[in-house]
Amino acid sequence: MSALWSGRFDTAPDPAAFGFGVSFGFDRALFEDDVTGSIAWAEALGAAGALAREDTRAIVDALKAILEEGRRDPAFVSGDDEDVHSFVERKLVERIGDAGRRLHTGRSRNEQVSLDLRLYLRRRIPLLQQALATLVAACAEQAEAAGAALMPSYTHLRRAQPVLVAHYFLAHASALRRDHARLAAAAEEANALTLGSGAIAGTSYSVDTAQLARALGFSRVVRNSMDASSDRDFVASFLYATSLAMVHLSRLAEDLIIFTGEEHGFFELADASATGSSMMPQKKNPDPLELVRGKSGRAIGRLTGWLVTMKGLPSGYNKDLQEDKEAVFDAEATLSVSAVATHAVVSRLTLNAERTERAASGLLLATDVADYLVSRGMAFRRAHEVVGAMVRRLLAEGRDFSTLTLEEWRDASEMFGDDAPRAATALASVQAKRSPQSTNPEAVRQALEECRAWLKTT
Ligand code: ARG
Repeated sequence: MSALWSGRFDTAPDPAAFGFGVSFGFDRALFEDDVTGSIAWAEALGAAGALAREDTRAIVDALKAILEEGRRDPAFVSGDDEDVHSFVERKLVERIGDAGRRLHTGRSRNEQVSLDLRLYLRRRIPLLQQALATLVAACAEQAEAAGAALMPSYTHLRRAQPVLVAHYFLAHASALRRDHARLAAAAEEANALTLGSGAIAGTSYSVDTAQLARALGFSRVVRNSMDASSDRDFVASFLYATSLAMVHLSRLAEDLIIFTGEEHGFFELADASATGSSMMPQKKNPDPLELVRGKSGRAIGRLTGWLVTMKGLPSGYNKDLQEDKEAVFDAEATLSVSAVATHAVVSRLTLNAERTERAASGLLLATDVADYLVSRGMAFRRAHEVVGAMVRRLLAEGRDFSTLTLEEWRDASEMFGDDAPRAATALASVQAKRSPQSTNPEAVRQALEECRAWLKTT
């Protein structure tokens, strides 16, 4: 087979060296984008008078037929071509002969491959966003199902303050919604037309790039042809967005691995989303969650690897840039399967409210006890000391606030009234919160409503 550039050489390429550079094995995923871009390019050349009307017609019709065939039969998109661009051109020439050889007029694969990847991301990012939104919906459903159930929140993985279980699920939903927005920003970064950049210096044919951008649905044309030939910032942004989303999935997975274990028992994993052990009959392992956590390393690796590749390059197109595609495809597939697996687990979790509520009472009410004293006029630092001393004593005696007699409250501080025991409950603690982002039940109800409204917009 001959490459698009064989004319300049008098010997055939070394098979190993040529094979090393072949990208068709993976860039075939860009098939439909490559054809879409080529159809628009042919029309732009035609409008500029650089292609005869009959040739334009023949090229466009043949490309449409090729697209149809590739969509109908994925096996059609194969061969020993160097890359997807060579494949499409070969098929075109096979169909219409010489007219097909005119398509590449004034165009370079450098701008073409960037265009294809931009079109690809624009097409695929919404699917990732959908997968994340589906997971947000599962979090919202868990929040709804939890009702007024309470659980401890943690800092330093030590019990901190009581929160509503609903608040906990909406916390994860909030992070996932930022990922959704970050993916949208990456898509917008990719949303620029590269055609007209040529190999690096621009094209000498008077194609109407603004019209081309409109035809391909781009919001703008790139600003500088030299920059465009090497710019893969949108790839880095996409890989960052997928990495951070994976970090959030990993955090959720890690929480649930802990919370569904015997020691916590806050939630029960459905049999359907757990696995057993080949040796220990009692085991119910959270394998899907562990794999999600593990795959986050892979996504971060793709981002890191890509930044290192970009960092070594001088201006202009360099073949190193070919590495962008496997990074994008792998990160995309990783986030996609991980979001689906996490959804499968989250949507089937059952809450053990008795366990979470028991864990939400006890010494983690210390801040509320201190706030009680503050409400009676004591300075917070002073109240912190008083309650600290109470905690020290309760710990030594293996007790918590609920077992204190009125005299004992009074002994700790004169400022404790008869209502002190009632202030030291998990429910009173959440009800005492005032800010809109807090775990106050009314605030959480509104947050859930807002989350639902957001889901309707996705
Ligand atoms: N397969 C190449 C890539 O992915 C296409 C661009 C080739 N351009 C070139 N000058 N060799 O980057």
